[in-house]
Amino acid sequence: MRRSLVVGNWKMNGTRSSAESLAKGILSGLGEDVADIAICVPYVFLNEIGQIVQNTRLGLGAQNVADKPSGAYTGEISAGMLKEFGCKYALVGHSERRTYYGDTDESVAARYSQAQEQGIIPVLCIGETLEEREKDKTFEVITTQLDAVLTKAGVNSLDNAVIAYEPVWAIGTGRTATDEQAQEVHQFIRQYIADKDKAVAEKIQILYGGSAKPDNAKGLFAMPDIDGGLIGGASLDAESFLKIYHSV
Ligand code: 13P
Repeated sequence: MRRSLVVGNWKMNGTRSSAESLAKGILSGLGEDVADIAICVPYVFLNEIGQIVQNTRLGLGAQNVADKPSGAYTGEISAGMLKEFGCKYALVGHSERRTYYGDTDESVAARYSQAQEQGIIPVLCIGETLEEREKDKTFEVITTQLDAVLTKAGVNSLDNAVIAYEPVWAIGTGRTATDEQAQEVHQFIRQYIADKDKAVAEKIQILYGGSAKPDNAKGLFAMPDIDGGLIGGASLDAESFLKIYHSV
């Protein structure tokens, strides 16, 4: 049986003090150990939040990682640096990175590999835009995004990775995929991996992201191929995030 995972993606939000209270609020309400849980915080908060969550079961993550190990890459943060700050996870290929900052399937695959080189679990974000869904291209897009990573790192690399299916049209829009719409894509992803390696497919955690909230999380998480969530807006409030966590 797969263990579920709920990850908060704080995106570019918060101040030093609000970030600290949010992390402390989450920790204080963690309660029963029903699933894995982590928060992906802005780089500049990693140090302080890392100290707060140290030796707790609230995992620390970054929102991106460089595609190279070191060198003259102004503004980038390497996987080795993230490791030093105690990161367990790093998001790679978030649609906001792909849309606004030019991340490509190839650079996402390189980021994924860089994370794994340092023992950081990449959370590979994939998903289609509304236009792609309306043109019936969802599975094609998902396949292309997955293939870039599989070609570079191989199917067995997924043993140390998490996949997040985030339909772009559902991110921050308040428009959530229905339980069935999400399950259909999750099932497709798992089957696509199973065709290459059944054991890897059975084991990998596939998270749903896109306007997941306390009132819709239970239904989504009850779907057989949805193993938790990648939560944006609702992870900025400890109570909402914990309610989602306790819905797994
Ligand atoms: P929202 O939950 O705000 O829609 O964001 C989802 C997301 O992008 C998580 O990475």
